[in-house]
Amino acid sequence: MNQQLRPQPVPFIDVGAQRRRLGTAIDEAVGRVLTHCQFINGPEVTELEQKLAAFTGARHVVACASGTDALLMVLMAKGVGPGDAVLCPSFTFCATGESVALTGATPVFVDVDAVTFNMDVASLKRGLAAARRAGLRPKGVTVVDLFGQSADHDAIAAVAETEGLFVLDDAAQAFGATYKGKRLGGIGNTMATSFFPAKPLGCYGDGGAIFTDDDSLAETLRSIRVHGQGTDKYDNVRLGLTARLDTIQAAVLLQKLTIFEDEIAARNAVAERYTRGLGNIVTVPRLAPDCTSVWAQYTIRLPNGDRDGFASALKAKGVPTMVYYPKPMHQQTAYQRYPVADGGLPVSEALSGDVISLPMHAYLNEADQDRVIAAVHEALAA
Ligand SMILES: Cc1ncc(COP(=O)(O)O)c(C=O)c1O
Repeated sequence: MNQQLRPQPVPFIDVGAQRRRLGTAIDEAVGRVLTHCQFINGPEVTELEQKLAAFTGARHVVACASGTDALLMVLMAKGVGPGDAVLCPSFTFCATGESVALTGATPVFVDVDAVTFNMDVASLKRGLAAARRAGLRPKGVTVVDLFGQSADHDAIAAVAETEGLFVLDDAAQAFGATYKGKRLGGIGNTMATSFFPAKPLGCYGDGGAIFTDDDSLAETLRSIRVHGQGTDKYDNVRLGLTARLDTIQAAVLLQKLTIFEDEIAARNAVAERYTRGLGNIVTVPRLAPDCTSVWAQYTIRLPNGDRDGFASALKAKGVPTMVYYPKPMHQQTAYQRYPVADGGLPVSEALSGDVISLPMHAYLNEADQDRVIAAVHEALAA
């Protein structure tokens, strides 16, 4: 085909389409910050925290500089450190375990469920055994809602309660998803999220937030967010960070929040259509009962081993793909020395070998969805 007649590639995500939809609303919101000049702790930050609390049902929201800071701040507030173990899934983005290691505590990696890709409770129990055998004190568990789908929080909470562990929900990819009818962040545990631009709710830079019903934890987090400050600004009472959310990012997020529910519905419509079109030739994502997804990724498992060939075939048809994650955390250079659950992590390792993510965003029109579906069929038939 003549190069000039070839259709544009399907966007993997499309931040520009959302920008066009919001039109001047974002320009005006940022313009208001440029006028009042309260770039740090401006009124938009407080307004955003209130609106996020209303959206999720959380009692407190502490906005912060990134999803990684959100995780780290909670772990710092919980006082974890050397000799402590925090159990984490291995099949996740590195920040889940990195935040634990940054405190001096030990991430202990556990396996995930082959269907939902979220933490496997049986492996969590085996991880606790491995942690204790290594002479570590299990203190907490960081559970991840991978690719936008809520994990089985009640099952995790039951183990945590028996074992005396705190639970930190890493919902960096799943802001807006629900568990048993409630939004994550409002289900009673402490939740961290990310507003990185590619996330379902993203800003125009780095950003994050923590959600909790615990008054004293919220107060500690607000102190950690600003160098551990006490009531006297120059008498710092603990170690902290510079981890505030910029006012300009809060202004952007306030505008994006107005269309977020509509975008979640649109992402679900894309996912349903993909599933109908692809369910008979690849392993498509499955939602567990009582869990919804905001589809940060639509990730399939391939029936044969040639993932690179499959990706190249789709690319030739203008369909980009990504592999999240080609290596589970416990196989990455920086994390190989940390313990893993007894019996190993075979599901995480298998997923890393055969998953691939397809274009997914709220502005993916049906013609582009059809191109993606057709390209997958053609690649597998070849
Ligand atoms: C599961 C998970 N946790 C944590 C993070 C970290 O978020 P941030 O990039 O905002 O620091 C991410 C970001 O990709 C993530 O996917």
